[in-house]
Amino acid sequence: MSHAKRDLVSINDLSDEEIQAVFALAEEFDARLRKGAPLQACAGRLLATLFFEPSTRTRLSFESAMHRLGGSVISVADAKSSSVAKGETIADTVRVVQHYCDLIVIRHSLDGAARVSAEFAQVPVINGGDGVHEHPTQTLCDLYTIRKEKGTIAGLNVALCGDLKYGRTVHSLALALARFGARITCVAPPGLEMPQHVRRRLVREYNCNIAEFTSLDQVVTDREVIYHLQVPEEQANDQLMPVWDLMSLFDVIYLTRVQRERFHSHAEYQAVAGSYAIKRAMLDKAKKDALIMHPLPRVDELDYRIDRDRRAAYFRQAANGVPIRMALLALLLGAVKVKGFSSAPPARPTPLRVPPDLVCANERCVTRNEPYLIPRFVSVVGEPDLIQCAYCDCELPRPEGARTEEREEVPFEGVSRA
Ligand code: NCD
Repeated sequence: MSHAKRDLVSINDLSDEEIQAVFALAEEFDARLRKGAPLQACAGRLLATLFFEPSTRTRLSFESAMHRLGGSVISVADAKSSSVAKGETIADTVRVVQHYCDLIVIRHSLDGAARVSAEFAQVPVINGGDGVHEHPTQTLCDLYTIRKEKGTIAGLNVALCGDLKYGRTVHSLALALARFGARITCVAPPGLEMPQHVRRRLVREYNCNIAEFTSLDQVVTDREVIYHLQVPEEQANDQLMPVWDLMSLFDVIYLTRVQRERFHSHAEYQAVAGSYAIKRAMLDKAKKDALIMHPLPRVDELDYRIDRDRRAAYFRQAANGVPIRMALLALLLGAVKVKGFSSAPPARPTPLRVPPDLVCANERCVTRNEPYLIPRFVSVVGEPDLIQCAYCDCELPRPEGARTEEREEVPFEGVSRA
């Protein structure tokens, strides 16, 4: 297996400098597209999009991006039309498809599926969304949009709203926002809050403490929250009993859909569906230059009357998917070399030697669903009592005697527990 290839499985597979390099190249491609200048950077290259879950934006913008770069595309757009429907595993699928293409973009319902694909494929793999885990390319579109429209990410007050438990876009986005110095507020109905492993990581790695609410349509009197959001002093002190509309405090309001397909029952979904929609009137309370964002598709979270408001950024955000994905394809294929983007993959943490019967606690984890995989765990920096699944990031109590694997690399291919 070649180790020189670059994959994009987690947003943390890219350094800050590399993210900036992706943005700079995306800007360049965007300008060229606007001029109608034909591009040939990926001429002769072939992209395979393997989408085992529904998609409009991610798959089509990747395919559009590849065509715009002069390359070609082959595609599985429906799980039912591939051998996965006959029971073929992820490992076998990518080991076959790698011979038909130069880069794979995969979307799959299992958490960690993209990491498995990257480990088994010898061509670069991009995560187009793996279960409830991550969606790094959506995050790049989101950050790019914020930076383009607000000029910066550092110091912005960003509200992440909706289904923060099952929404993979917000998991990658929260980590990236914290890295670039935004202040994060989470607004989620009870039961759909941001997962523990993401919160802990925000604090541990970026010293980013989140403020939390259950609804956007409420007032805030809590001085601690106001302090957290760094409301300017003149604004904070001009009232005896300070009261703020929550909506008025954010530079970016990022909505997400309730991820109906991830719920165990329809009743469970019904209990939270529609619980945090933004109505047109609520926009009156928002900042005049706030951005309303959404990865789309929307269901009922965003009133259609908001679309005409300049602050509604979601269609611009979706459009940015093409130049961003053009930049990613060109860089990961090595078709364009830019300063700041390394051709070497980031170091992966060394797996721990753990009891052989230890399984990941997350039932959606790829290791619980693809029987040939050996679960792998890594240490959690700064948390000696915890370990973390190397595929889905789920945290578990550290078992007795877990220690760092002496071997550099644990073999994956064809290895089974039996
Ligand atoms: C998101 C996804 O698939 O996670 N869509 C997208 O890629 N823009 C969000 C969603 O499905 O709600």
